[in-house]
Amino acid sequence: MAKETLKSIPLSENQTFEIEITSMAYDNSAVGRYKDFVVFVDRAAPGDKVLAQATTLRHNYARAKILEVQGSDPLYRIEAKCKVFKVCGGCQWQHLPYEKQLEQKNILIADFLKTLNISSDQIKPIIPSPDIWNYRNKVQYPVRTIQETGRLKAGYFEWHSNELVNIKHCPIQNNLFDEIIEAVRNIAEKYKIIAYDSSTKKGWLRHICVRLGINTGEALLTLVGVDLGLSNSQMFVSELMGKFPQLVGVCINVNNQTTNVIYGNKTEVLKGKGYINEIVNGIKFKISATSFFQVNTLQTEKLLSTISDLLQLSGEEVLVDAYCGVGLISLYMAKFVKKVIGIEEIKQSIEDAKTSLQENNINNVILINGKVENKIQQGIETYKPEVIILDPPRGGCAKNILNTICDSDVRKIIYVSCNPSTLIRDLNILCLGESNQRGFSIKTIQPIDMFPHSYHTECIVLLER
Ligand SMILES: C[S@@+](CC[C@H](N)C(=O)[O-])C[C@H]1O[C@@H](n2cnc3c(N)ncnc32)[C@H](O)[C@@H]1O
Repeated sequence: MAKETLKSIPLSENQTFEIEITSMAYDNSAVGRYKDFVVFVDRAAPGDKVLAQATTLRHNYARAKILEVQGSDPLYRIEAKCKVFKVCGGCQWQHLPYEKQLEQKNILIADFLKTLNISSDQIKPIIPSPDIWNYRNKVQYPVRTIQETGRLKAGYFEWHSNELVNIKHCPIQNNLFDEIIEAVRNIAEKYKIIAYDSSTKKGWLRHICVRLGINTGEALLTLVGVDLGLSNSQMFVSELMGKFPQLVGVCINVNNQTTNVIYGNKTEVLKGKGYINEIVNGIKFKISATSFFQVNTLQTEKLLSTISDLLQLSGEEVLVDAYCGVGLISLYMAKFVKKVIGIEEIKQSIEDAKTSLQENNINNVILINGKVENKIQQGIETYKPEVIILDPPRGGCAKNILNTICDSDVRKIIYVSCNPSTLIRDLNILCLGESNQRGFSIKTIQPIDMFPHSYHTECIVLLER
């Protein structure tokens, strides 16, 4: 950074300074002001008085790390339950009591949404998660081999780092995962299964992934490797499945890409089934190894009932469920409407959804495989929906999707978002419309906590016109 710019900043690189923290930020840090200048302090909590050291300087803010917590507010700072919380990048807010996590999420969401033209009573208080420990139904650990011992390290990376934290116990995940992963570590060592090293291009295993049907007890292990050549695969699998009756199958997913995407396109079943079943709100879902499914099963039940409560449908509507995954929202909403059209780009997820339709005897859902941006126009022209549900990934919706919806006769939209930045961008398009299009009005914003102990927030937004 240019010296002239730095002069106006009341901090210099590596400077140590005392600061009081006022609120949480939407990441790994909390915010305070030093001589009126905004500073994000890693892993701090509101009420903290800390001795900090500047790590990054920008013209309008700085980042800092804690050297010493000199004082704290016991209402806000507690001992984290997890032994590796201080280093692990998996969750960020365990040092706050749960009710304060909710309070801070409410504040952050209101802050994010303040640029929208809505009144504060349209933003409802966040819905707490029924479980705050052991709630995650899925784990996806990257792995490394420790050269000296041949042991596998498996866990989450440190925050914004390539350092892997070897996790033996993670309190936000289902307990079964600790046991299965420990067994994989042990058996992998026995059969000399080595982690893939991207710098030497040697080794095989990239990720260990386990998912669990919380309501069915079915677990599925997927080993992500660079090819299908897992040595001693049958012995490995038999030993593992013998130990864990919950395992209904073990798969290999092949990923030979150089990106940090977890899964490749090819999955083969080594033994058993390549999917689990899960039951949500009385509906049985088939979920394959690499298909998307909400990670907090019990809170997913509330997510679904909130969507139907907000929509207040007559039963005569046609509804498009864009980004439908394995059909979670499509199958649930089928009983509230005349017809549902689900759109999803991953073929396997559509196949899963089709199986679930049959198993649940649901006959009013049509599933379309393809990108929403390519299918929405035709979907709207053919089926003339009054209602659309958008549940996109973090990047939000392509502009043409939102414009097509504004141009149509859709009356109600539910937008489910896990990223407030792209949510605001997309709501602005939906509300204003572009050129001569007709915009929507935001009626209600209902935050829901799908991810206790992390800064992540999910919002359900009802728009109407
Ligand atoms: C946040 S998930 C929601 C899935 C589903 N609504 C649920 O709650 O289980 C987003 C889904 O969109 C799919 N997806 C991502 N980009 C897409 C696109 N451009 N077109 C269609 N589907 C897409 C992903 O594969 C994933 O299944």
